Amino acid sequence: MCGIVGYVGPKETLDVLLGGLKRLEYRGYDSAGVSVISELGLETRKKAGKLTNLVNEIAEHPMRPSHIGIGHTRWATHGAPTDGNAHPHLGGPTQKLSLIHNGIIENFAELKAELLAEGTKFASETDSEVAAHLIAREYASVGDLPTAFANVVNRLHGAFTLLVVHVDQPDVVMAARRNAPLVIGLGDGENFLGSDVAAFVEHTKRAISVGQDQIVILRANSVEVRGFDGTPATPEEFTVDWDASAASKGGWPSFMDKEIHDQPQAVGDTLMGRIDADGVVQLSEVESLGVDWVNNIDRLVFVACGTASYAGDVAKYAVEKWSRIPTSVELSHEFRYRDPIITDRTLVVAISQSGETMDTLMATRYAKEAGAKVLAICNTQGATLARESDAVIYTHAGPEVAVASTKALTAQITAGYLLGLLLAQLRNSMPATARQALGQELLKMPARVQQVIDGLAQPRQLGKDFADAKSVLFLGRNVGFPIAMEGALKLKELAYIHAEGFAAGELKHGPIALIDEGQPVIVIVPSPREADTLHPKVISNIQEIRARGAKVIAVAEEGDAIVGDYAEHVIFTPQCQSIFSPILSVIPLQAFAMELATAKGLDVDQPRNLAKSVTVE
Ligand code: AGP
Repeated sequence: MCGIVGYVGPKETLDVLLGGLKRLEYRGYDSAGVSVISELGLETRKKAGKLTNLVNEIAEHPMRPSHIGIGHTRWATHGAPTDGNAHPHLGGPTQKLSLIHNGIIENFAELKAELLAEGTKFASETDSEVAAHLIAREYASVGDLPTAFANVVNRLHGAFTLLVVHVDQPDVVMAARRNAPLVIGLGDGENFLGSDVAAFVEHTKRAISVGQDQIVILRANSVEVRGFDGTPATPEEFTVDWDASAASKGGWPSFMDKEIHDQPQAVGDTLMGRIDADGVVQLSEVESLGVDWVNNIDRLVFVACGTASYAGDVAKYAVEKWSRIPTSVELSHEFRYRDPIITDRTLVVAISQSGETMDTLMATRYAKEAGAKVLAICNTQGATLARESDAVIYTHAGPEVAVASTKALTAQITAGYLLGLLLAQLRNSMPATARQALGQELLKMPARVQQVIDGLAQPRQLGKDFADAKSVLFLGRNVGFPIAMEGALKLKELAYIHAEGFAAGELKHGPIALIDEGQPVIVIVPSPREADTLHPKVISNIQEIRARGAKVIAVAEEGDAIVGDYAEHVIFTPQCQSIFSPILSVIPLQAFAMELATAKGLDVDQPRNLAKSVTVE
């Protein structure tokens, strides 16, 4: 979850570092700091709290001009968020070395004991400072920073992205990554490092993803990548497909508001080039799963966390219905601890916006070791999950900066539909005419998402009207059930109030006891046009809770002439095939939660206690 920036080149380093850290704020942090090498030597400033505290510190204690440096925003893991625990950490008795770290060094205790036994003085409680002292000590012994750096990183266990600068070698930034994100930005006479491309995208769109157990020797005019064992590596360069303006608020009051409104494009861009006018899917990126991969699958398991897991829950209905492959969804952090049955005929589909969620990374590594193929659905190019999977379907939602996920979800669901249609196509598991009709219907969804966006005034107003609610319940059935769960999660993480999603059919098995006079309940109502009997059942659920005093807000399909007789408020969404309705019905819930939280004066972009990417287990 930490933000990392490194720079070497002709620009004023402090501008590059602080600008990069600003763009990485969304990752969630509780302290920040920078180190530069100037004519005075190594200069470091660091402060607990938000970036403005660091900026103020630098204003009070200016730093000299510099052309090399490192910057960090920390999400506390070892040690409280204090000035002393903030990164960078200085190494060695002469404090000529500065280090920043993202992740957890699992064997830091034994390494710290080794250093303490030699009399090393520690200024912090962090695992990161241990690495700083180890590298400083090694450098004093070998006299060469790349060698010293490599010797030490080979001793570290756990998850780490490390950046180091040393006064004695003021032209190079050393970096290493193991189980944590690191990307290189390639410039002209300058080079960058970042925990993701947002750190440097305003300066360059040319990027390289650093692989597992790789070291980077970064100079203004050269970038060398090696394995921890010293073998040269030649990682692929890629071009970032969004620019700095895309990661800026663009005039919106919040990133969240902007990203809710980005959804027609997020869904449209995720479909772009992947489904033709006849509704036939082309997904060449999955070919790396191997020849005839599709006929070798006898089971598909989605693994994900949080909102991404609800995308999997929706996709499950489509994939199993269309492809006839037994499909399930597992929470990543539960999956590998229950000794699941995984074979070489299992396809694990990992859904992750960041591609750095450690729980999901560990689940996919476990699955690969058990022989499964892993397909990622990821929104971040070059992310660890993308590089470790056998194939990747990138969602093209653009940068999702608000911690609470919105457009990534609708894009992930869209990718799930594409996967379901592709599987049906390759396995010939349904009539081509029906399948292609579904594909053509899917192509109409971005316009329908736009129609929902155009009608958000009503759910926004309802969010304000219910700002004093102490609890809100959400009900849904079939594909509406995961959306009820997501609507509850949005409200919890934005407005910090109790919210709970239920399968509507579950109500009479217990939750209906929660219904009290005035209890707000949001109900996702299925289409009355579908042949199944879900609509009447959900209308009955509404009657049951209204009879017990509930205040019901229904999200229903345009043309539903029945729901209005039972629900106090009805938010209508455009007609579509029910299977596709989640990418419409979730949007009013996003707006409702955002407005209710805003009415409470809360920060909808960076909710308390949350981080955008949970890169620790
Ligand atoms: C989304 O609103 C949540 N902040 C959280 O549940 C998130 O979806 C989850 O942590 C998974 O993140 P990922 O998609 O980056 O793996």
